[in-house]
Amino acid sequence: MTRKEIEAIVAQMTVEEKASLCSGGDFWHTKAVERLGVPAMMVSDGPHGLRKQKDEGDHLGVNDSIVAVCYPAGCASASSFDRNLLNEMGQAIGEACQAEGVGVILGPAVNIKRSPLCGRNFEYYSEDPYVAGEIAASYIKGVQSKNVGTSIKHFMANSQETRRMSSDSRVDERTMREIYMPAFETAVKESKPWTVMCSYNRINGTYAAENKTLLTDVLRDEWGFDGFVVSDWGAVNDRVAGVKAGLDLEMPPSCGVNDKLIEKAVKDGSLDESILDQTVIRILEIVYKYMDNRDKEAVFDRQAQHEFSRKVAEESLVLLKNEGILPLKKEQKIAFIGQYAEKPRYQGGGSSHINSFKVTGALEMVRDMPNVIYARGYDDAEDRTDEKLVAEAVEAAKAAEVAVIFAGLPDAFESEGYDRTHMQMPESQNYLIEEIAKVQPNVVVVLHNGSPVEMPWLPKVKGVLEAYLGGEAVGEAEYRILFGEVNPSGKLAETFPLHLEDNPSYLYYIGEEDVVEYREGVFVGYRYYDKKKMNVLFPFGYGLSYTTFDYSNITLDKESIKDTETLTVSVDITNTGKVAGKEIVQLYVSDKESTPIRPVKELKGFEKIELAPGETKTVTFRLNDRAFAYYNTQIQDFHIETGDFKISVGSSSRDIRLEAEVYVESTRSIPKKYHLNTTFGDISKDPEAEKFLAPLYAACTMIDACDTNSAEGLGTSSKAMQDAMMQYMPLRALVSFQDGTIDFTRLQEVLDQLNQ
Ligand code: BGC
Repeated sequence: MTRKEIEAIVAQMTVEEKASLCSGGDFWHTKAVERLGVPAMMVSDGPHGLRKQKDEGDHLGVNDSIVAVCYPAGCASASSFDRNLLNEMGQAIGEACQAEGVGVILGPAVNIKRSPLCGRNFEYYSEDPYVAGEIAASYIKGVQSKNVGTSIKHFMANSQETRRMSSDSRVDERTMREIYMPAFETAVKESKPWTVMCSYNRINGTYAAENKTLLTDVLRDEWGFDGFVVSDWGAVNDRVAGVKAGLDLEMPPSCGVNDKLIEKAVKDGSLDESILDQTVIRILEIVYKYMDNRDKEAVFDRQAQHEFSRKVAEESLVLLKNEGILPLKKEQKIAFIGQYAEKPRYQGGGSSHINSFKVTGALEMVRDMPNVIYARGYDDAEDRTDEKLVAEAVEAAKAAEVAVIFAGLPDAFESEGYDRTHMQMPESQNYLIEEIAKVQPNVVVVLHNGSPVEMPWLPKVKGVLEAYLGGEAVGEAEYRILFGEVNPSGKLAETFPLHLEDNPSYLYYIGEEDVVEYREGVFVGYRYYDKKKMNVLFPFGYGLSYTTFDYSNITLDKESIKDTETLTVSVDITNTGKVAGKEIVQLYVSDKESTPIRPVKELKGFEKIELAPGETKTVTFRLNDRAFAYYNTQIQDFHIETGDFKISVGSSSRDIRLEAEVYVESTRSIPKKYHLNTTFGDISKDPEAEKFLAPLYAACTMIDACDTNSAEGLGTSSKAMQDAMMQYMPLRALVSFQDGTIDFTRLQEVLDQLNQ
């Protein structure tokens, strides 16, 4: 159906019909208009599988949904750093949607991991906006290639669950642009999601659902979004303000209450009917985009998708520690310990909860291996040590050559709807690990958690495999990695701090009452830990392999570029070990000297490559202006300060192997805005300012006093003090320290010349 045809349908609608289309027909459908043959379209959660509900709708994952395949959650799949894989995963989910008649899947969820405490971190991708944006764009392209839409969420600055429906995220403009917006921006620009879901919270005082700056000025006018915006379930505050701001579809429907308000507003003239028309057209364009391209032949092959979900997990699990203990040998006497070997924790709680097709634990994979014994060790229903279970586990560990403990966070420890209050694992599990380590020197811990945990036992174990919430086939992936059938290749898309208190948002995280100040600004995750030169448990971008990689030959195609040009960086990576493996090569950019306070370095490129033993491949990165820019609030745009930039290529944020430098010249000059309170120091940084300042210096009595050549000259330290006073003196203060030749008219003349 063309836009013209849709417009013609809308032209036949009454105001009442149009207003009614601004909310769903039920919990999961848009409305139909039978009189005009307008169909309804189904939407469903997401993101890491299809949660299509059969009967009673709820947004909390409570009521049953159809059987579907549960893929690794965002925390895990992002660790694959694999754009193609996420695209394929999107395709698989898109296919499932087509087969089940679902027009839009509610995901991906790209909110930034501001704190390890966020209850929903398991669903989100990263602390880094570049990773989140790249991964999201790939997933969206995959889903939408099957003519099914996505709903990138939750727009925006929604990084906590506490008071999620009313909190006010106070974020400064630069932080918003550099940290919280780019994942959405990249996805919208690169992959054109059909819909965007606005978040529950307020942003700098205005609810996301009625935030015109975000929903229209930024999303549509700047980034070119052309789909519809849907409210998060129950996020509408003032419906009419929402329509005006660019919120198209309200979900779930408010029993017609809000539709009536829209109708009334049009009738009393407070809402222009053309705005309502536009809203309805946007919704119908997407409805028909799906309906017109329905794939009636599509099949949801759950077994094939289950196998693919194993592959996604295999690419996503992160090997955090390996002191020569992994891979295990099949003939070793091994004790599998911990309930999660049998019943892994593989997905999170809430709206993303999938009714899984089948779940495989690692234990099932070793059922034909008599040399592997099992002890449950704990029961995750409550955090209570069961001495009997511990004793059995200790016995099993003693009887084996290696103990593999399957541990992690129980469901109750992290979920949509609330945040964690600490970063610890259950005490009973920490205790179990310590007890096993007392009797068995060869211990591997396999972790199941959606967000970082503290690991007090880390020095006492030889191996740690981070399985995150690895989807329904996680046990198969664990088995294959533990026994070396698959070489681990995931890397952390977030930092594991040593302690919760180290996290930059620690002091202010959930805020006071409804106000949440994002005071750490752009220093989120590694941007903070690097700047503070802090030790961390495991750094951003870190993950081990069973092989080793050598980095060489960093080459830049130019030594100097203009900000309108692209820089091409290439490096050679060689597999120097004995087995094939995959490496995630990371590129970071640092501004060597900058006026704004900037992170030490920022990720601006990554590639995952596969190498046979001895093989070398060249990895190429292309960097455009955004790779070097910061957000300048004066011009309200990204800007590059002319100067030298460092390009660092490495295996993690704390394992940089190669460095090079490039000079980047800005072609954009920032309008000068000197005023009476600008300091002499700031003005004198301007190379053109000297000639205008010279007469002022001549009139300044403070400078005379600083003249160390005179007989009565000041000593060196006093000279330094006087220099500093001059540097930090605002222009207007010159009238107090002068020879009588300067008045405000004179200062204004100088300012006018400087600002030209
Ligand atoms: C969640 C969304 C979800 C929606 C529908 C909300 O509570 O925040 O992520 O898509 O419910 O279930």
